[in-house]
Amino acid sequence: MTCVTPTTPDVTPAVLREQMARWPTGVAVITTIGSGRPIGKTVNSFHATSLEPPLVGWCIDHRSSQFAEWMAADGYVVHVVAHDQAALMSHFATPSTDRFRGVDWVAGLDGMPVLVEPVPLRLECRVSHRLPAGDHTYLVGEVITITTSDAVPLCLKR
Ligand SMILES: Cc1cc2nc3c(=O)[nH]c(=O)nc-3n(C[C@H](O)[C@H](O)[C@H](O)COP(=O)(O)O)c2cc1C
Repeated sequence: MTCVTPTTPDVTPAVLREQMARWPTGVAVITTIGSGRPIGKTVNSFHATSLEPPLVGWCIDHRSSQFAEWMAADGYVVHVVAHDQAALMSHFATPSTDRFRGVDWVAGLDGMPVLVEPVPLRLECRVSHRLPAGDHTYLVGEVITITTSDAVPLCLKR
């Protein structure tokens, strides 16, 4: 039997967040160079934007403790999280002044931090657009390099 909930005009932040969980997404750890140090965070707003030119994007919350550093960044590295890397997802979502403590990384494109742990997909990007949208800013990036593995991506769904 199909169960349909009533339509609601009550689109509060909590309602929207809860109901958008019906839209399955992957999860990515995004890294960059902040103020002289690597920074990174877990996101599920990441998605493909354009094929020609090759653009991807994700949205950063204006309340992020590192918002100014992300706005100043010229690029970012997308690490798509594998199905068995829930710990990596949690690590980069947990508040910390240094999420890179104990994490192996090397300098990649433009010196940006690349996680050594293999992931299904890694994209090194240069920022092409910074587009404010409500309480988030959309960071569009041109894909410069693509690295893949056979690992299966993690899928978040309700
Ligand atoms: C599954 C998941 C998805 C998330 N997606 C986003 C996102 O798309 N954009 C964002 O700014 N924060 C997102 N967050 C929150 C960040 O990972 C982080 O916890 C939060 O921004 C606080 O850290 P910060 O102060 O370094 O930004 C997500 C967290 C989780 C667990």
